Amino acid sequence: MKILVTGGLGFIGSHTVVELQNEGFEVVVIDNLSNSSIDVLDGIEAITGKRPIFEELDLREKSKVQNFFKKHSDVQGVIHFSASKAVGESVEKPLLYYENNLGVLVYILQELKKKGGASFIFSSSCTVYGQADKMPITEDAPVKPAESPYGNTKQVGEEIIRDTCKVNPDIKAIALRYFNPIGAHPSANIGELPLGVPQNLVPYITQTGVGLREQLSVFGDDYPTPDGTCIRDYIHVVDLAKAHVKALQRLLNDKNEDNYEVFNLGTGTGSSVLEVIHSFERVSGKKLNYKIVDRRSGDVIQAYADTSKANEVLGWKAESTLDEAMKSAWEWEKKVRG
Ligand SMILES: NC(=O)c1ccc[n+]([C@@H]2O[C@H](COP(=O)([O-])OP(=O)(O)OC[C@H]3O[C@@H](n4cnc5c(N)ncnc54)[C@H](O)[C@@H]3O)[C@@H](O)[C@H]2O)c1
Repeated sequence: MKILVTGGLGFIGSHTVVELQNEGFEVVVIDNLSNSSIDVLDGIEAITGKRPIFEELDLREKSKVQNFFKKHSDVQGVIHFSASKAVGESVEKPLLYYENNLGVLVYILQELKKKGGASFIFSSSCTVYGQADKMPITEDAPVKPAESPYGNTKQVGEEIIRDTCKVNPDIKAIALRYFNPIGAHPSANIGELPLGVPQNLVPYITQTGVGLREQLSVFGDDYPTPDGTCIRDYIHVVDLAKAHVKALQRLLNDKNEDNYEVFNLGTGTGSSVLEVIHSFERVSGKKLNYKIVDRRSGDVIQAYADTSKANEVLGWKAESTLDEAMKSAWEWEKKVRG
């Protein structure tokens, strides 16, 4: 069965391609290499023994998207990762974000409608919840006003899919709200490759550990949390990738209860910034150079998932510990920069 993975050479996409191929799916990847490297294909092949079909194209070119679906008319499912994801950049360049994250989504849904339906998985984010009133966060928690154009693209993206599904019963979709994906494949053949200064905590930690960055800044230690630093739900990217296969199978096997569903993907456990640093120090045997600085605007205090819906309905559960995820991130960093 042929599955399209957009953004399939990126961080989460590449790990998902591996899990799809391990389950016997035929995968075709679209990527424009704007935030990834062609070498990722070698990494995927080294792990699975199989190279996915690769189409290098920019999904913002509508005619190319149309031609792709003509050429690959046997695609039965789409996992849509491709997007721009830097929150700060989205404030500077909102139209780039709306075009790349929403324009492209519309083009793909139009093709699925033309096809007469397909299964569709969307990369959403826990950012839609903002600072939720209750922990852990369930899927019913209200969506709060977005703090950035990036966050808004996830909220509006979900609405575009929901409205499309309402009037197109042959399109079946699941939005997966990721908490904080970290780590790398345990083989260290694929992992996260941030361009420039990392926006996320874990690559910043591993780059500091390997000597590429001098010091990590911890933004605030006076939050109302046990150690004063912010709390997030860090999920190993391989666990996250496996959840995509479960979600896709649910749709392909017509097991879905509604043709638009939403699931949280996290571990259910919150970890503070200091706990993540200590985990890194444990698995690497290195002391991390960090300093506490002022709070950063826009940071929520804590966010961790209630994962019972994904556990019970998808039959999926995150298995890796924080230390296992940090160890894989560290092994990958050492391989890339070492
Ligand atoms: N990483 C996270 O922390 C996180 C958290 C929540 C949600 N998400 C979402 O998950 C998805 C995947 O995230 P990721 O971390 O793997 O990002 P990533 O940047 O590593 O992967 C995205 C891939 O899409 C490609 N791409 C971007 N625009 C494209 C276009 N116009 N045409 C073709 N290819 C294009 C990039 O080259 C890249 O390979 C994104 O939608 C992101 O918003 C990520």
